[in-house]
Amino acid sequence: MGNAIQYRAAGGPEVLELVELPDAEPGPGEVAIDVTGVGVNFIEIYQRTGVYPVPFPYTPGGEGAGVISALGPDVTTFKIGDRVAWPGIPRSYASRVVGPADKLLAVPGGLSDEQAAALPLQGLTAHYLATSTYPIQAGDTVLVHAGAGGVGLLLTQIAKIKGARVITTVSTGDKAELSREAGADEVIVGYTGFAERARELTDGAGLPVVYDSVGKDTFDDSLAAVRRRGILVLFGASSGAVPAVDPQRLNDAGSVFLTRPKLGDHTVTRSELLERSAELFGWVRDGRLKVRIGGTYPLAEAAQAQADLAARKTTGKLILIP
Ligand SMILES: NC(=O)c1ccc[n+]([C@@H]2O[C@H](COP(=O)([O-])OP(=O)(O)OC[C@H]3O[C@@H](n4cnc5c(N)ncnc54)[C@H](OP(=O)(O)O)[C@@H]3O)[C@@H](O)[C@H]2O)c1
Repeated sequence: MGNAIQYRAAGGPEVLELVELPDAEPGPGEVAIDVTGVGVNFIEIYQRTGVYPVPFPYTPGGEGAGVISALGPDVTTFKIGDRVAWPGIPRSYASRVVGPADKLLAVPGGLSDEQAAALPLQGLTAHYLATSTYPIQAGDTVLVHAGAGGVGLLLTQIAKIKGARVITTVSTGDKAELSREAGADEVIVGYTGFAERARELTDGAGLPVVYDSVGKDTFDDSLAAVRRRGILVLFGASSGAVPAVDPQRLNDAGSVFLTRPKLGDHTVTRSELLERSAELFGWVRDGRLKVRIGGTYPLAEAAQAQADLAARKTTGKLILIP
């Protein structure tokens, strides 16, 4: 029997509890993994609180790392004992996970178990945002909201690798310090005044790209910070969902593009997943990308980890240890 966390409907969807579940055996194309670390992501809060409805009882989680303990009949790409990590296997808040081998990444030597659990989802997100949604060019000035968060710290560092000048927003002085350490050139404490500052820093032109994961509280000013024909990348809603947007507003803002991207559309094929992760792991190995673990919690305390994340008490990545 393995341990897993479940959200239960009884008593309200806010309830998380540790349950014992029978061990599933891997089917064709699948492997079983003894989990060494589970990545906590904001999407699990959206699911628990009904922003993204899920059927209860529900075992959350999509990210983690571990060691392969059993192989399905036809799996040849991995062997028992291999260290692996994944950005997209459901029900990952568990001590044992069964999932498709073609979703797995081999963990390179030099990455700790915690780093391996921390990097896939937020790292690959930061990668596609900086290289595909808007391919950052040297000399660009870009804005990253929530600069001390999990995605924020990684995206800031990748933007610096690409040669950009980076403006970030954060809520506190301590978070500002962390964001600066990650390479931010200009850190704004609080989520007001950033559109004016972005204009000042670009001789009135505005920014080619704004990466906005905060949503409701920042959307209007983010739109005001984007330059003519620039792009507003709305990739999260940590402060709440953005109300419906009249497309005419994009015209008024200067033929601005608006996108609401997700990781699944940027790791469609196995080769795309491997190409992105190879570059990402390479940056970690050569020391250009630091993974900040902001907190580790026993799996049984997943509720506390989510509460801390929702209450803006955390920085970097949160990990659950089964
Ligand atoms: N679309 C995708 O592919 C994708 C993939 C991964 C994550 N995401 C999104 O990216 C965002 C960041 O995810 P993450 O896991 O790295 O979380 P995170 O950034 O570590 O945590 C969220 C941060 O948002 C800031 N924030 C601003 N207003 C907030 C509010 N009202 N309530 C809570 N937080 C608020 C807080 O930083 P301050 O205290 O500094 O304000 C908080 O620490 C989330 O919105 C998530 O949904 C999207």
